[in-house]
Amino acid sequence: MDFKTVVPGASGLSGIAADAVLVVLCNKPSKATLMAALGEAPHAALAGAEKLGDFSHKPAQALVMHHVAGVKSPRLAFVACPDASAKSWRRAVLAGVAAIKQGGAKSLAVTFVADGDASSLGAAHAQMLVCAVDEALYVFRATKPSAPAASSLRQVLLVCDKANAATQGAGLRTGQALAAGTAMARECANRPGNHCTPAYLASQARSLSRPWGVKVQVLERKDCEKLGMNSFLAVAQGSDEAPKFIVMQWLGGGRKDAPVVLVGKGITFDTGGISLKPAGEMDEMKYDMGGAASVLGTMRAVAEMKAKVNLIGIIPSCENMPSGRAVKPGDVVTSMSGQTIEILNTDAEGRLILCDALTYAERFKPAAVVDIATLTGACVIALGHHRSGLFSADDNLAAELLDAGEQAADPAWRMPLDAEYDDALKSNYADMGNVGGRAGGAITAAMFLKRFTGKYPWAHLDIAGTAWKSGAAKGATGRPVGLLTGFVTGRAKA
Ligand code: BES
Ligand code: MN
Ligand code: ZN
Repeated sequence: MDFKTVVPGASGLSGIAADAVLVVLCNKPSKATLMAALGEAPHAALAGAEKLGDFSHKPAQALVMHHVAGVKSPRLAFVACPDASAKSWRRAVLAGVAAIKQGGAKSLAVTFVADGDASSLGAAHAQMLVCAVDEALYVFRATKPSAPAASSLRQVLLVCDKANAATQGAGLRTGQALAAGTAMARECANRPGNHCTPAYLASQARSLSRPWGVKVQVLERKDCEKLGMNSFLAVAQGSDEAPKFIVMQWLGGGRKDAPVVLVGKGITFDTGGISLKPAGEMDEMKYDMGGAASVLGTMRAVAEMKAKVNLIGIIPSCENMPSGRAVKPGDVVTSMSGQTIEILNTDAEGRLILCDALTYAERFKPAAVVDIATLTGACVIALGHHRSGLFSADDNLAAELLDAGEQAADPAWRMPLDAEYDDALKSNYADMGNVGGRAGGAITAAMFLKRFTGKYPWAHLDIAGTAWKSGAAKGATGRPVGLLTGFVTGRAKA
């Protein structure tokens, strides 16, 4: 897809040469604003549709008209948007593109009409436009080459005035890097477990090195043994697929700048192990590498933007399988940190692979470490599918991540980490058990991770509810690449 800015000539919107023009109407603009922005005939057509009851400015409501008098483009579409926030703008663009994508239009011009300062569209909106268009047109074909094309659209033009065309153009470019990172995450996570193995994730990491200058190192089982990653290896031991411990580095910052470290859970299939999961919806456990996918996507986006920041991505990856070699409930392992763990439930495997990665992260003397994991069903019960769970004892880091989530329309919600929750992890046989009972399951999982993070500011994102959608629209979302990319680039030098 080709994204460009376009500055309208003297005849304004009606003179724009595109196969379709999409007008995002912010908070039901006044007649005067509409007349000024659209001109007489398009305004009359819109007012007519309102009168007929076909358009009422409900959020994300779309309307497509054809051959409106005085408008050069043969298609004129409107979509309602309650305000100029990132979230509303994203939703409006998604709905507007969805209304047009089925048709024959090859080029689309998008414009924003609002009372007051109509040029209030910022670079963030341009960035979001690219991501929304990309999302609206995404089709998974890796295992279904026969999937029909989503659309004939090839070019999207963002209408802006001369004064902000440069800013918007830059927004479109960073948007393309972000959209490519999000697409990479979505594409990886959608692949089934027999395609997306730990070795596949390693190959995806390696694919970032030549084009984007990301340094990649992959530790094999033997390397992990030497490092004492017995907790990670305990999860991996039940599978015939070799585990991979992937380390990526984007060094865009100064030599002395402490890096941000992202740690992504890379379970390429979670059967539960000996604590086997029930059969219903077990296929969705192919998405259990959604955290890893978001780290890959963020590395790609940040590197493509050439952000002046040091970023390390760590992905512990393996399958969680039952077998004659699999770890058993009650087994005790010594983690890389030296702390011992009684594995009471082999299905609480995410924390077992993350804890060794969190210890490994210490060697980078990080400014901050954020782990991202499809960690608990309990988080889905607590927050549903709209907000990721955010856990951090560091108020500043938590605020930074929450803000990045709002900016990217990829929101999170802070959850508690009170010391009292820690009691649930007591074990008679080891320093801790790996489960804390049903109550507050997302929190006790976070408390487990916290025990491995004493050496740096740390946050944990539980994305079990946000990394994919179930049902008819089953598929990976690419979240939280938007949140993470915003967070990391927010720490870059100008
Ligand atoms: N990958 C799952 C978490 C999960 C389950 C995410 C369902 C999304 C939907 C994780 O490894 C797991 O199995 N967690 C257990 C923990 C329990 C045994 C303490 C869970 O949530 O049931
Ligand atoms: Mn599990
Ligand atoms: Zn899991």
